[in-house]
Amino acid sequence: MKIGVFDSGVGGKAVADAISSALPEHEIVLKQDEEHVPYGTKSPKHIYDFISPIFQQMIDDGCQVIVVACNTVTTTLIDKIRENFNVPFVAVEPMVKPAAEMTKSGVIAVCATPATLNSDRYNWLKNEYAKHVKVLEPDCSDWALMIEDNKIDREKIENRTTEVLAQNADVIVLACTHFHWIEDQIKELAQNKATVIQPEKPLIEQLKRVLAQL
Ligand code: DGL
Repeated sequence: MKIGVFDSGVGGKAVADAISSALPEHEIVLKQDEEHVPYGTKSPKHIYDFISPIFQQMIDDGCQVIVVACNTVTTTLIDKIRENFNVPFVAVEPMVKPAAEMTKSGVIAVCATPATLNSDRYNWLKNEYAKHVKVLEPDCSDWALMIEDNKIDREKIENRTTEVLAQNADVIVLACTHFHWIEDQIKELAQNKATVIQPEKPLIEQLKRVLAQL
């Protein structure tokens, strides 16, 4: 089957790689929006205008399912996307629920773009599943671009991570797929203090369920 994978940028490659090693029998069509990345500092209206022709093109190219490998797109637009495009979508979203279930200290940290943190969907997730825990939202507003441009500032990542650890966070949620590329550094800093989670595995499980129904 042809599986479309979309992200604004290099986060999509991480997700596409994970999917193709788990499901090598399928063809992956990866699309990134090099012209408009980063999305996390843009409005949902602009983001919708960017993604619309790309999703249409993927459908026209024969993709039978589209993976939204971008938390920013999911949290701001997934309902509108599902309404307007006639193909199943499997989408990453911030793992607030599992983090809230896992925490023992009662503090979790969500690393995400500004658009994700401002979205109704993310705030609904927090209200629904994380009312009883403290949710830290470290400033990661320029991380996606820094990773996209391959200009990784290790000190900045270290500072943000150390701050949330100092505030007792014992689960760190990577809620932007670009952060896959700095996951190892964050895990190393968090060693023995916090668990770092990201959505590739549950996404693949969901994708398998959707593929089985096609
Ligand atoms: N990789 C995207 C995400 O998961 C967004 C990065 C960006 O374009 O700002 O949120």
